[in-house]
Amino acid sequence: MGGDVAVSGTWEWAEERFGRRDFLLKVGWAFFYVFLGGWLLSNLRYLFPNVLYEPSLLFKAGKPEDYALGVSEKWKKAQRAWVIRTPEGFYCLWARCTHLGCTPNWFEAEGRFKCPCHGSNFNLQGDVLAGPAPKPLWRCQIALGPDGQLVIDKGRLENRPDQRGKDVFFLPYKTA
Ligand code: FES
Repeated sequence: MGGDVAVSGTWEWAEERFGRRDFLLKVGWAFFYVFLGGWLLSNLRYLFPNVLYEPSLLFKAGKPEDYALGVSEKWKKAQRAWVIRTPEGFYCLWARCTHLGCTPNWFEAEGRFKCPCHGSNFNLQGDVLAGPAPKPLWRCQIALGPDGQLVIDKGRLENRPDQRGKDVFFLPYKTA
């Protein structure tokens, strides 16, 4: 009841202050500007695309001297990659099973990677030894950066046996 009195009081005050016609005109313009503002804001939103920022696929893996011969699991958890050092150099395997994408484990004594999901086995080069995996593990691009660190790029992959040993997927490295 008290609220009705307050509302009608406001109307009377507005009518007295602006005149009925003027007041309705102002209300109309106010609605128009609110609508226009909303329309402009919703259009501005389209200037900023929906981008999903993913972590970089490139990472520095430290100095070559930090690695002993064999499989290093140093980057398995953080980067899902194994760095492998052979007497001739380095390569990097992406720790992702080529069957359905699980993360295999390295078994030093058996010299193979085994996938816990459906039992695929891979040798040190990443070739399939057993299981449902249809193709070898992927190798990542590897290079030596200007600061002397290994630079690995998981955005560039190769698993064809005649290609993966060449070029950017194997880094020849020998200590003097
Ligand atoms: S995901 Fe590795 S064997 Fe199926």
